[in-house]
Amino acid sequence: MTSTKLQAPRGTSDVLPEDAERRRQLGGRSAELLGRAGYRPVETPVLEDTELFARGVGESTDIVQKEMFTFEDKGGRSLTLRPEGTAGVCRAYVEHGMHKLPQPVKLWYSGPFFRHEAPQAGRYRQFAQVGAEALGSNDPSIDAELILLLADLLAGAGVRGVRLRLSSLGNAATRRRYGAELRAYLGARESELSEQVRARIDQNPLRAFDSDDPGTRAAMEDAPRLLDRLEPDDAEHFAAVRELLDGAGLAYELDPTLVRGLDYYTRTVFEFESVELGAQRGVGGGGRYDGLVEEVGGPPTPGVGWAAGIERILLAAEPAVAAARWPARAYVVLAHADGRGEAFRLVRALRAAGAAAEMEQTGRSLKGQLRQAARTGATHAVIVGEALEVRDMDSGEQRPVAGVQEAVRAVIG
Ligand code: HAM
Repeated sequence: MTSTKLQAPRGTSDVLPEDAERRRQLGGRSAELLGRAGYRPVETPVLEDTELFARGVGESTDIVQKEMFTFEDKGGRSLTLRPEGTAGVCRAYVEHGMHKLPQPVKLWYSGPFFRHEAPQAGRYRQFAQVGAEALGSNDPSIDAELILLLADLLAGAGVRGVRLRLSSLGNAATRRRYGAELRAYLGARESELSEQVRARIDQNPLRAFDSDDPGTRAAMEDAPRLLDRLEPDDAEHFAAVRELLDGAGLAYELDPTLVRGLDYYTRTVFEFESVELGAQRGVGGGGRYDGLVEEVGGPPTPGVGWAAGIERILLAAEPAVAAARWPARAYVVLAHADGRGEAFRLVRALRAAGAAAEMEQTGRSLKGQLRQAARTGATHAVIVGEALEVRDMDSGEQRPVAGVQEAVRAVIG
C-alpha cells in the first residue's frame, strides 16, 4: 500500500539548500552591519499571548482582525503565532527591565513570522524577517540611522530598483484630530468612495489613501494631509530626520499618504519598495512607536525600528555568486575494497585542516566516483588504492603521497 504524498501547508514552503545558503549569507551580513552600529541580537518566542498583539499591533488592523494564527492551548489560554516582531521585543524590554540599562537599547532579530494572508508571489503565511529596534531615545538621529542601515542592508544584498517612501504621523492627539477631520471629509464625499473604504470610514479612515479604486483615488486628491497638521515639535523632529538623511545623500520620496498596516506608529514612518517585486512591493518598512512600550505595560519609552522580508529581499536581489568558503575541497575515492578506514581517517584530517572533504559512501565504480568528485566541485580527489594518490581535478595531474599528512598538505597547498 502506498500512502499519499504529504505537502507543506498552503502559504509555507521548504527552503532548499541553495536558497538556505543565500539566507544564511544575508543573516551574516545583517549581523555584521547591525553589530557595527551597536545593535545586539535578541530572540523572542514564536508564540506569544494573543493579547500582546491585540494591544500592540491594534484591534482595528487587518493583522489582528483577519491574519493571525490564533489557538487555545490545553490550558485554555489564547496564544498566537507572532505576525510581527516589534510587540514581542517591547514585551521583552519591559519583562527584563531593560529600561534600567543605559539607553538606547539597540536590538536586532531574524526569524519566522506568520500571517494568514492569501498566498501569492512574495506573500506567504510563514515568512522570515530581519528587524532592528532601538528603544529609549527619541533622538532623530536614531530614526535616520535606522533608515540608513536598512538602505545599506538592501544595497549590500544587491536589491534592485529600490525606492524609499517617507512620512511622519505626528503624535496620537494630532492623529485623533486629523482622523476626525478626515472622517468628515470622507463622509461628505461618501458617494464617490468604494464600498470597502466607506465601510471603514469610522474605524480606519487613513486606509482610504491606500485604495486602488479610481473613484476613491480621485476623491482623495484634495483630502487633508496629516503632514500639514503636525504639531511644531513633531514637525521639527521630522525636519531633523530629513536633514540627516539629506546630509547622508539618501534619496527618498515624501509621501503623506504612506500608511502602514500597524497601529503603533507615531512620528517617522518609512517603507522601502522594489520595482522588481510586482504587487508585493514592500521589501522593508518601519517607523517610530513612542507609545508601544507603555501599551504593553512598561514606562513611557520612545522606540523606533524596522523589519524587512527576507524572501522579498532575495526575490529582488541579484543572485550573487557564492564565494568559496573553504580553501580547498576534496573527494576521497575508494579504489580498493579495504580502504574505508583510511578514507574515513583522511576526511577527518582534511576537515580538521580546514578543507571541505567527503568520501565515497554509495559504492560507485572508480569512474563514477571521479565523476561524483567533479560534481561536488572538488579541487582534489584523494585516491585510496594500493597506494595513496592525490589528483588535481583541474589539470588531471595525479601523484603519489606518502601518508595522510602529506595528502592533507597536497590538498591544502
Ligand atoms: P511590516 O511592514 O508589516 O512591518 O513587515 C515588514 C516586512 O515583512 C514587509 O516589508 C515585507 O517585506 C515582509 N512581509 C510582511 N508580510 C509578509 C508576508 N505575508 N509574506 C512575505 N513577507 C512579508 C512589521 O512587521 C513591523 N514590525 C516593522 C517594524 C519594526 N516597525 C517598527 N519596528
